[in-house]
Amino acid sequence: MKKAGCSCVLIILLCCMFFCTGCTGVTASRETGIDEDLVVVGFSQVGSESDWRLANTSSMISALSEGNGYRLLFDNAKQKQENQYRAIRNFIQQDVDYIVLAPISETGWDSVLREARAAGIPVIVVDRQVSVEDDSLYRSWVGSDFYQEGKTAVSWMEKEFAQAASLRILHLQGTEGATAQLLRSLALEQAVSRHRTWSVEAVLKGEFTEAKGYEVVRDFLETGTDFDVLYSENDNMTFGAMRALDEAGITYGRDGRVKIISFDAVRKALEFCLDGKINLCVECNPLHGPRVDRLIRNCEAGEPVQKFSYVEETSFTCDTITREMVDQREY
Ligand code: AHR
Repeated sequence: MKKAGCSCVLIILLCCMFFCTGCTGVTASRETGIDEDLVVVGFSQVGSESDWRLANTSSMISALSEGNGYRLLFDNAKQKQENQYRAIRNFIQQDVDYIVLAPISETGWDSVLREARAAGIPVIVVDRQVSVEDDSLYRSWVGSDFYQEGKTAVSWMEKEFAQAASLRILHLQGTEGATAQLLRSLALEQAVSRHRTWSVEAVLKGEFTEAKGYEVVRDFLETGTDFDVLYSENDNMTFGAMRALDEAGITYGRDGRVKIISFDAVRKALEFCLDGKINLCVECNPLHGPRVDRLIRNCEAGEPVQKFSYVEETSFTCDTITREMVDQREY
């Protein structure tokens, strides 16, 4: 708003390309007249690696729309933190009013956030967290309690396998260093060290994508190592893993040999849960757009904003999920 007159060409970045991977970062643009009333927001998004991420991007775009009083500059970092640094520096050059950052990993943000602060641009962090020496480098964070999500999965395993003599776990991890990976992994690691009969057969790196999830699980299955439960840190990796299990002739789900735990609970995963193919879906809510909109409005009004806001989340099991729950899913 206050800086809208600073750029010669007003660019609305509509970003539809995030719906397909492999597209370039910034989207189509069009010229508009200068509207001094719009709040200019630069949003650096992780990428388009998962259904969750696409839902998150959509939520941000619809909340930070021109109709709502915003001009949104969107950048898709394609899972590369260097691209996020570049995008943020670009936003600083364009003198945006706010920077919204969905960071790929937790570390490495001090310098670029100091540059934003020196330019007087408030930063709002969404989804994953940043680990910085001085947490006044960002105004606020909104996202999920990833540790609680992991604990929900662990509690389910504790009940489900209470009578089992042993439990062999295949751990499919998301992008290394991302809060979602660190805390979902931490909850599992702590549980394994508490339960003498639990063991992790392998930790596979699936980068939160279906393709990588498929590849690493397929390669693992070739070793012939047996396991009882797949702890998969997001739905898209789970979909890839299911394909690898199908090809290897290994049954899974309610009536299968391997039980599956998946994080996110996007609609496609809930459909599999309803079909009895995924045993537990732990929800990770991606709809942060309206919360970011509220935070910015509070900042604009000079009202105090909460430093950390956790979104509410639930979980679904194949024994209790209903068609109605699946149909209610927005993403
Ligand atoms: O940070 C949230 C995680 O990132 C979601 O679980 C995953 O699907 C996404 O890519």
